[in-house]
Amino acid sequence: MNDLETLVKNARADFALTKVPAELENTKALYLGKQGSVTALMKNLANLSIEDKKSRGAAIHEARQTIEAALNARRQALAEQALQRQLQAQALDVTLPGRKRLTGGLHPVSLTLERIEAIFSSMGFDVAEGPEIESDWFNFTALNTPPDHPARSMHDTFYVENAGEPAVLRTHTSPMQIRHAVQHVKRHRSSAQPKNTLYDGDMPEIRVIAPGRTYRVDSDATHSPMFHQCEGLWVGENVSFKDLKYVFTDFCRTFFESSDLVLRFRPSFFPFTEPSAEIDIQFPSGPLAGRWLEVAGSGQVHPNVISNMGLNPERYIGFAFGMGPDRLTMLRYGVNDLRLFFDGDLRFLSQFR
Ligand code: PHE
Repeated sequence: MNDLETLVKNARADFALTKVPAELENTKALYLGKQGSVTALMKNLANLSIEDKKSRGAAIHEARQTIEAALNARRQALAEQALQRQLQAQALDVTLPGRKRLTGGLHPVSLTLERIEAIFSSMGFDVAEGPEIESDWFNFTALNTPPDHPARSMHDTFYVENAGEPAVLRTHTSPMQIRHAVQHVKRHRSSAQPKNTLYDGDMPEIRVIAPGRTYRVDSDATHSPMFHQCEGLWVGENVSFKDLKYVFTDFCRTFFESSDLVLRFRPSFFPFTEPSAEIDIQFPSGPLAGRWLEVAGSGQVHPNVISNMGLNPERYIGFAFGMGPDRLTMLRYGVNDLRLFFDGDLRFLSQFR
């Protein structure tokens, strides 16, 4: 093997040892750079005869081309390796299962509340909301239920203090009757009447529903310590039990999409209504047909309550009802355990999406 062949062989071996492009370029300089072996050989040509210059020069040139070819081959190989490494690092396993994007939905009870609001809005009712921590006055006393009244014991709840005042987690939405009516009277009271008297001037009718959360010490398959109610109130000059029957019947038939649904107004007692009635419904067909199902309490607003609204009961009269949206939801969807609504189990909730 002559010196040029050895040189080419060494260059190939050195190139092969390099692992990254920068290393290869450094090694290249050893052979082809200004101070490199090939350049040195060319310089030596000067000492040779013309004949020898020609043949030696051609041989060196050929060796140089071979080394350059080897260099380019190695450059390509390294680039290829780098690409492969990068592809491997970013590899996607297309056999992995995809990640699902979960979409939320309204809670079944929220669906019911929306439905109740839509139906009553269409009948000209406003929708109002009130506080869940309620004063003793609004929750009981203003509703004709003084501190020693036995009806309070049926409304055992969470007693708290709010800014030093006795307060409760409201046991029903009925306090909204007073809150809403008081605001309504304040807004519409004509200045002709003295401030501190019960109002008996003109005003638009009060027609409102008030949905929201309510609380009682109660827990089983059909009772939850937190539950929902929706209050209804209609106060005017000629509002009667007949109107209550009409409005509530129309509501129930629309809500359950059943024009043959039957209602029963069963005499009952509430301190804030007189007379009072429990409202039961009966489905004409389906799994619940033939049974009376209680859905609301109701009655004509008691004169004392009309007074606590700031209105003169000699002129103003009305009716109120309080229904259970949780119960309505169970009946509408055939749910048999109230607790399902509050467990947060997606297997249950996703069925309503
Ligand atoms: N607030 C009563 C309850 O919780 C229901 C009701 C509301 C009754 C309005 C009459 C009038 O049981």
